[in-house]
Amino acid sequence: MTETLPPRELRTLFLFESLDDGQLSALSSAGRVETRAAGTLVYGEGEPATCFFVLLSGTVAMSRRVQGDEVEVSRTSQRGVYGGATQAYISGEQHQLYLNSLRAVTDAEFFVLPAEVIAECVREWFPMAMHLLEGLFIGMRATQTVVGERERLLALGSLSAGLTHELNNPAAAAVRATSALRGRVAGMRQKLAMIADGRLDGSQLHDLVELQEDAVKRAASAPELSPLARSDAEDAIADWLDDHDIVGGWDLAATLVAGGVDVEWLDQIAGAVGEENREPAVRWLTYTIDTELLMGEIDDAVNRISSLVGAAKQYSQLDRAPYQTVDVHDLLDATLTMLHGKIPQGVRTVKEYDRSLPPIPAYAAELNQVWTNLIDNALCAMDGEGTLTIRTWRKDGHLIAEIGDTGPGIPPEVRPRIFEPFFTTKPVGEGTGLGLDISYRIVVNKHHGDIRVESTPGDTRFRVVLPITQAPRDDGR
Ligand SMILES: Nc1ncnc2c1ncn2[C@@H]1O[C@H](COP(=O)(O)OP(=O)(O)OP(=O)(O)O)[C@@H](O)[C@H]1O
Ligand SMILES: [Mg+2]
Repeated sequence: MTETLPPRELRTLFLFESLDDGQLSALSSAGRVETRAAGTLVYGEGEPATCFFVLLSGTVAMSRRVQGDEVEVSRTSQRGVYGGATQAYISGEQHQLYLNSLRAVTDAEFFVLPAEVIAECVREWFPMAMHLLEGLFIGMRATQTVVGERERLLALGSLSAGLTHELNNPAAAAVRATSALRGRVAGMRQKLAMIADGRLDGSQLHDLVELQEDAVKRAASAPELSPLARSDAEDAIADWLDDHDIVGGWDLAATLVAGGVDVEWLDQIAGAVGEENREPAVRWLTYTIDTELLMGEIDDAVNRISSLVGAAKQYSQLDRAPYQTVDVHDLLDATLTMLHGKIPQGVRTVKEYDRSLPPIPAYAAELNQVWTNLIDNALCAMDGEGTLTIRTWRKDGHLIAEIGDTGPGIPPEVRPRIFEPFFTTKPVGEGTGLGLDISYRIVVNKHHGDIRVESTPGDTRFRVVLPITQAPRDDGR
């Protein structure tokens, strides 16, 4: 039951009051009058914005979804108010969606124009206003993007603050172990002087050096003991030391056990050096083991430092070409290392990599941003508890990298909007809503790939699909 609205009626609506007769009759023939029953939806937020509505009679309520709740923003029966495809005239904005929902509170009557018509009319009739509006619109968006990027940089800053913190632990451990090592080496020199004071003959010294070699090997391969087994082993050694009149046995026992030494081995030493050299020999070998353990600690700490620095370099790609052939697993690992401090204790990380995948051409630093955004979202969703799964596999000439989490999932009503810029369900100040928008642009526009998402409560997977062979290059924007 549609009818048209004559030009003179149109002129009574404030929106159209300054149009000339020709313009009014154009609108009149393009539009139609429609009625909606009380309680029905006129248009819904997030649906394709195909129509422009002007209220003729009745009462309507406009609402927006805020973090999953429908919030009424206005209610009116003022003739002439409008809604729907209100931004249709902004150029370059295909596939616009309704930004809010409109519901008829009472039976209501509308003048309805197709979005293309209102877009065309505004562009043609008000070219100068169009320029100004576009400037305003694009300017606002650019400002928001700059603000977003600035926030991203700040996030990178907090990432590197995290890295500094991570570096601190192994660095402090290395410093501590080095200074202890200096003390032990000095102690060894003194004991060596005592042993070599002419009281040991050549063959005894030879045996001792052999035992020392053995001690080094034991220290390197000493098994990790349970607390109970360790305390039993320490008891046995302390008793042996006591029986052989070596004082302060308890201090030595802990080191000897950590170095994998047992009572039989101590008997061998005693046999090799004779009674009067027994104590200096045991102490000397204890120093050997201690030194070995400390060097192991330093080795671990230094390796950890260099792997962190390596990850930071890999992550930032500062000294690399922006577009190059990379192993995606290196990127994923570097990102995980960089995010290590942000991964809570209660979150288990599982990696299932298909290592047979070849290196692929990519903008590595930007892909790292994608992994960071997806992992960050997964961690937020899990809120401290769950499993983060990173998988890769090959499918039809593509590499697939999947970030999975065991969080509550993405509600179906939120799902269509997650890739929109500035869409976030996080509290103000926590999310900018740009993470997925940026990721989408990096994967789809720059790599000619795709991001897909599957989500049920307890199982959300973001799948990044990347071509394995080089795609035709363009400017990537
Ligand atoms: N793994 C996930 N589980 C549940 N919801 C998710 C997940 N990833 C994204 N979302 C939803 O998508 C929305 C948009 O994500 P996006 O990364 O674009 O922005 P954000 O995380 O809210 O903010 P930002 O990333 O800018 O800090 C999130 O607010 C959240 O509602
Ligand atoms: Mg995010």
